Amino acid sequence: MSQNNAPDQSSMWGGRFAEPTDAFVARFTASVDFDKRLYHYDILGSIAHADMLRDIGVLEAAEHRAIVSGLASIRGEIERGGFVWREALEDVHMNIEARLTELVGEAGKKLHTARSRNDQVATDVRLWLRDRIDAADRQLSTILTCLVDSASEHADTVMPGYTHLQTAQPVTFGHHLLAWFEMAWRDRDRFRDCRRRVNVSPLGSAALAGTTFPIDRAATASALGFDQPAANSLDAVSDRDFALEFCSAASVAMVHLSRWCEELVLWTSPQWAFVTLPDAYCTGSSIMPQKKNPDVPELVRGKTGRVVGDLNALLVLMKGQPLAYNRDNQEDKLPLFDAADTLLDCLQAMQGIIAAMRPNRAAMRSAAQAGFATATDLADYLVVKGVPFRDAHDSVGRAVALAIDKGIGLAEMELADLQALSPRIEADVYAVLTLEGSLAARSHLGGTAPGAVRAAVEAARRRI
Ligand code: ARG
Repeated sequence: MSQNNAPDQSSMWGGRFAEPTDAFVARFTASVDFDKRLYHYDILGSIAHADMLRDIGVLEAAEHRAIVSGLASIRGEIERGGFVWREALEDVHMNIEARLTELVGEAGKKLHTARSRNDQVATDVRLWLRDRIDAADRQLSTILTCLVDSASEHADTVMPGYTHLQTAQPVTFGHHLLAWFEMAWRDRDRFRDCRRRVNVSPLGSAALAGTTFPIDRAATASALGFDQPAANSLDAVSDRDFALEFCSAASVAMVHLSRWCEELVLWTSPQWAFVTLPDAYCTGSSIMPQKKNPDVPELVRGKTGRVVGDLNALLVLMKGQPLAYNRDNQEDKLPLFDAADTLLDCLQAMQGIIAAMRPNRAAMRSAAQAGFATATDLADYLVVKGVPFRDAHDSVGRAVALAIDKGIGLAEMELADLQALSPRIEADVYAVLTLEGSLAARSHLGGTAPGAVRAAVEAARRRI
């Protein structure tokens, strides 16, 4: 015990030490500041462990009752803000255990039988992450539903489709939203896949080699909702690949959100004016009174860098570690917590934006009309009339050049002018030069025709 009689590390592991921990080293090695947020999972894990210790006869029924009720009081103290976290006790695990012994005496000292902080922390982090994955899953499900509803409403709202950010061919806004849907659907799938490997119990691995007590690992695993106990104790206490997988899935999801946000930033600028965001999701400028800035999409785009950085930090954290547990692993928490917090915030932001954004049909239509978006349709028309595609491409290129000269669109060109470029062109050409004609022609699976988009909406609803 230290001089003021508050418990410190020496009460937990100080037996072989002849001098106290250096004050700087105590601060340097402590993680309680950031790992205290695991308290709920730490207590769940301790209760499952204590139940199992009672069942195998290591704890008396009375000791078990004292431990479980002590842990419940500690949970109450923490949630009321009355718990005193001590840096001297390093981490969440030793803080809770020391308090338990203060509260219930000798029984508290028995809780750590057949356990180590190494399997304890790996268990806590997996339980914490599983809840975050489930939260991300719920948010992505809401986003998927919003996207499908909006796609259904805009199955025939025409807009320019782009390649190289140059007007390419007309598409429907519904089709564009369903492209976002596909990205989000794969993101949700990646988190579900990752969850299977997160949901494995390290408990019972103890420090690295297991324990001499006849523990029941299947019982603790199932009490904590894990699918199974981890098969190898060395692996279970040391690897953090489940965190890498989560950060990797989170990075991909964030990159998708970032791309959507980039589009929203473009679409909300007055030069495009395709979409209006509600005032509640924008901010103003302190100097330019006319400004309504898309800060929320910009921040989602910006925060993507944080999550990709978190993944990178974890990859580098792991690369040099020999088996089994090393203290390096304590550094997994800040990047993992940050990636999950940032992801969940950004999914919430995106959910709000998608539900509230209002597309401007007139602006989208006039932009689609302005960029010779139906030029490919004209070339396809010539191919159907027997012209080889390369020749058709050339003739249409010359038609576009002429239209640019005259300051008109392809649909406004005189039939005689078109026929001068290719004699195969007839009066029926105008049907393919309209935006609606162009859309309707792409009616196959995955195409942009309103009918195909409606079919895709129905198929998407069945997949959510
Ligand atoms: N705070 C530690 C961590 O987060 C807990 C495990 C410490 N184990 C040890 N043997 N020092 O990784």
